Amino acid sequence: MHVAIIMDGNGRWATQRGLPRSSGHIEGAKAVRTAVEAAARADVKTLTLYAFSSANWSRPAAESAALMHLFGQYLFTETRRCVEQSIRINVIGRRDRLSENLLRSIEQSERSSAAGSGMLLRIAVDYSSQHSIVEAARRAGRDAESAGTELTGTEFQRLLLEVDHCTHPASEVDLLIRTGNERRLSDFLLWESAFAELHFSECLWPDFDEQRLHCALEDYDRRQRRFGGLGANTL
Ligand code: FPP
Repeated sequence: MHVAIIMDGNGRWATQRGLPRSSGHIEGAKAVRTAVEAAARADVKTLTLYAFSSANWSRPAAESAALMHLFGQYLFTETRRCVEQSIRINVIGRRDRLSENLLRSIEQSERSSAAGSGMLLRIAVDYSSQHSIVEAARRAGRDAESAGTELTGTEFQRLLLEVDHCTHPASEVDLLIRTGNERRLSDFLLWESAFAELHFSECLWPDFDEQRLHCALEDYDRRQRRFGGLGANTL
């Protein structure tokens, strides 16, 4: 099962407590550890977390820098824990706008966790689905021209994996969770979520815990997935 999470509400969590937004992000990073370990225990096969969207660059430079710093710190402290739990790490999204230091940390985390046989943890950083799809389409056009044939859907998907720096193929998203009481997709995994079930939670991300993950998984279990067909219960 592939679960994807839009981790929203760090800023509001902090503001409600009279704290700077950065405190919300720090608490949010702690909730990431909880969610990752809870998902692995719940036998989730792939977990994709939206840590920083390409649109987030429009925030004040200090906030973007603080988020990048937190993410680097997370890789530094959590990679070993992930390796111990056989969790593989893959950072997806653009890499051309990340600092050299962060790129080195990403490569190091991916390399040292690559042999894990457990959950695949994908962290989306400088990620934009629309950008990925356009870039894959551009490469598809180029490849089709040199091969003299049209590309198939499977080949297009392979290009999408390449554009996003996916080190492992992931199944399509089964359950997409968004916290923070907003109901939108914000340019996240638009292609991969074509048939995803959606779960919106009022909880602000720093408050997300194992119980809330279970609540979302139970909600998912009650859904009847039909993929455009009629479903098993139809006579
Ligand atoms: C949305 O909350 C959250 C983000 C833009 C960043 C998510 C980052 C983390 C959870 C921590 C760092 C990540 C990792 C992987 C360690 P918001 O700031 O938009 O909240 P608001 O809507 O209440 O303002």
